[in-house]
Amino acid sequence: MRSSSGKSKPLSGTARAPGDKSISHRSMIFGAMAEGTTHVTGLLEGADILSTASVMQALGAVITKTGDGAYTVEGCGASGLQTPKVELDCGNAGTGVRLIMGACAGYKIRATFTGDTSLSSRPMKRILDPLREMGVSAASQEGGRLPVTLESNGKLTPLSYTPPIASAQVKSAVLLAAVNTQGVTTVTEPIPTRDHTENMLRAFGAKVEVTKRNGADVIKLDGPVALKAAKVNVPGDPSSAAFPIVAALITPGSDIIVENVMMNATRTGLFECLTEMGGHVQADNFRKSGGEVIADIHIKYSKLHAITVPPERAASMIDEYPVLAVAAAVATGTTIMDDIGELRVKESDRISATAELLQANGVKVEELENGLKVTGGAVPGGGLVQTHHDHRIAMSALILGCVADAPVSIDDASMIATSFPTFFELMRDLGADIS
Ligand code: S3P
Repeated sequence: MRSSSGKSKPLSGTARAPGDKSISHRSMIFGAMAEGTTHVTGLLEGADILSTASVMQALGAVITKTGDGAYTVEGCGASGLQTPKVELDCGNAGTGVRLIMGACAGYKIRATFTGDTSLSSRPMKRILDPLREMGVSAASQEGGRLPVTLESNGKLTPLSYTPPIASAQVKSAVLLAAVNTQGVTTVTEPIPTRDHTENMLRAFGAKVEVTKRNGADVIKLDGPVALKAAKVNVPGDPSSAAFPIVAALITPGSDIIVENVMMNATRTGLFECLTEMGGHVQADNFRKSGGEVIADIHIKYSKLHAITVPPERAASMIDEYPVLAVAAAVATGTTIMDDIGELRVKESDRISATAELLQANGVKVEELENGLKVTGGAVPGGGLVQTHHDHRIAMSALILGCVADAPVSIDDASMIATSFPTFFELMRDLGADIS
């Protein structure tokens, strides 16, 4: 399905951020591992989460939709996740497959994980290495790709692990394996990554200790832990809110509010960047929801200027670089985003896909070995963007179109449903010319 966007009139009104993808995945996985019935509200009903939910059902959980974004998960508890009768198709979901592999590792289980073409090209070795050290056996395709068959006798050895890359998915896989491992497992993070797994472990009754050593976070879990069902109210996703926020900042005359945005400091790097660029991004009405702080964000069109993004901020905005590059395309000067090699192994190679998307629309961009330099100015538009089946590239391109002289088109809009199924409706309600 092709889609396009054109120069938009000022955006106005109030939008509600959809449920957070990271927390939604975790609610299904934790609910399935726990004893009792977990009640989830505000779940992101995107394709990625539905894949994770169906995999957790294949592993023995009973998941029932009880309303809009409302689900119950009857967990496996003491009987544990079960060897599935089918291959576990995780679709496009990197978070899903990596966290579920970690969760399965602690049980006596044999399971084969598959995914779509994009997921099948993504590296799994980063997860399989620590899980193998804990005692799991795993057969993968070349380079640690899917399909992966994982076999565990459910008797793992605790691990002290420092992931070689800053990755919440790696940290989470190890911690989930540690839930059913006798002894203390430690993950050391020199650069903190999103802490939703630690928060949810606590909400499900585990004791997680976080201390500082030489500036790094040391996260300790003493297993085994019998997780207990909990209530999870999923807060709004800052990574999805990023799209209407950037659209309003760059579309002249805009003035909007995006409600229900999670403000966890491990996720708000983009908002810092946009503020430094001179953007009016004002968070108000801070409150707690589902154990996280949320706020409503007021955005007004602003004249932006270029910045150099500090590399140490990358973990707190890892999914937001494509849309930041769109903001940079209209900012005065050259924005530098470097040391973000991880972007090459996301749903697509997001460094080259973002460079292509800008180039196709007449924006000056230089692709670096591990980053991008974007020089802002007028956006001629008129390009057809190859999304490489990447939802965030697709949405970023459509946001760029809101300020382009000629419409911006994308080759395929279907992947947007993985993380933001209400994107078109929400953007059109704000006044964006997106079809
Ligand atoms: C996620 C972690 C990030 C992020 C992904 C969601 C998570 O991946 O890109 O969209 O929910 O833990 P990495 O941990 O690989 O950086």
